[in-house]
Amino acid sequence: MKININFPVQIYFGNGEIHNIGKRARIFGQNAFLVMDPFLKNSSIEKQIMQNLNDNGVVITPFYDVVPNPTVDLIDNGVEQIKKGHYDLVIAIGGGSAIDTGKAIALLASNYGSCWDYTERLGANVLRPKEKGLPMIAVPTTAGTGSEATPYAVINNPHIHQKCTIVNPAVFPTVSIVDPELMISMPPELTALTGVDAFSHAFESYINVNAHPFSEMIALESIKYFAKNIRQAVKNGTDIEARNGMAWACTLGGMAIAHAGTTVPHALGQPLSGLTNAPHGGTIAACLPEVVEWTLPVAAEKFAVVAEILDPSVKLKSIEEKAELLPSILVDLFREIGADVTFSGYGLKEDDIYSFADTVYTSFQLDLKGHPKVATKDDLVALIRKCM
Ligand SMILES: NC(=O)c1ccc[n+]([C@@H]2O[C@H](COP(=O)([O-])OP(=O)(O)OC[C@H]3O[C@@H](n4cnc5c(N)ncnc54)[C@H](O)[C@@H]3O)[C@@H](O)[C@H]2O)c1
Ligand SMILES: [Fe+2]
Repeated sequence: MKININFPVQIYFGNGEIHNIGKRARIFGQNAFLVMDPFLKNSSIEKQIMQNLNDNGVVITPFYDVVPNPTVDLIDNGVEQIKKGHYDLVIAIGGGSAIDTGKAIALLASNYGSCWDYTERLGANVLRPKEKGLPMIAVPTTAGTGSEATPYAVINNPHIHQKCTIVNPAVFPTVSIVDPELMISMPPELTALTGVDAFSHAFESYINVNAHPFSEMIALESIKYFAKNIRQAVKNGTDIEARNGMAWACTLGGMAIAHAGTTVPHALGQPLSGLTNAPHGGTIAACLPEVVEWTLPVAAEKFAVVAEILDPSVKLKSIEEKAELLPSILVDLFREIGADVTFSGYGLKEDDIYSFADTVYTSFQLDLKGHPKVATKDDLVALIRKCM
């Protein structure tokens, strides 16, 4: 048995943890570059955060240029700004897009070039950071990406319609503050789609060929929290217990992919956002049941375990029966929470299917190789067609 555990992030998890942000930040110095999700602009929570940082002697420069599927240009502009001043740390507060923006800015603050140069692209000359980057504090306001616990920063390049990832231990946040109270303002659709992303991280790492007992343990725990809390979090966003459960499912999901990686759903989902700017969680929801169906009977034992967590009523069925029920369990659940979406609904055209499959096949080999069933280009074309 080979197990490699590397998890360098200090995580503070719990209701109200945001009110300790000033003292957590002050440890790293006085001058902070603050990447803020624009949904927080002029909110009472933003005022409290600014006050708390101020009370602890942290001087901040706010940066609001964050968009969903964060773009190379906005991030590079942020890097230009941070290089003009003297900063001790970067703080990023918001959804996965804000956190990834902050992670990339922190890394590039002490390295040269464009953030795009550091993304993994098959066959391209990928730059590796020479310097560590600035200390970085991540404060998620969605429960989906798990970016607070991963060595990844996903960047969108609209000039070439591609979305690629910096994969490097240097982009683990230094500290993450996960406060479920910050997630209460998420509307039901965002809660559902980001929740599916959190689930898929746990699920894909669990079935991944690189899974090991530690990553599997984290992944299964994440799936249990997802199963128990997703419906209630969508139905009643102010239910703080459900928000706690989903926040924890998300952080564990991030830790799980940090150890074992993602598979075919992320290989399909990420480039779809690059092509159509679709929300990340939606791209995953649109393909996950089809990917499970296509993968069967491979990984049936693990699918059976997940099916039973999501729907305990299948308990007395055989492993094969449970595994075969997983696609419909997912379809029903996604319909119930309003995450029944499709690739065509997100703007993928019939005519684009072949070139899209080609991008997936050439650029996402890392994810494809993690999947327990080998995917040929023809398999991908057929799969994409089913997700339309
Ligand atoms: N780094 C990683 O490990 C990792 C993993 C998976 C996905 N990602 C990336 O993260 C990005 C997606 O992040 P996301 O799914 O969190 O969405 P997001 O950050 O793109 O946010 C989506 C929308 O929700 C808003 N929002 C955020 N928090 C809110 C709240 N509490 N209340 C109301 N509105 C809120 C944002 O302003 C935005 O308009 C994608 O680019 C994806 O590829 C990164
Ligand atoms: Fe994801």
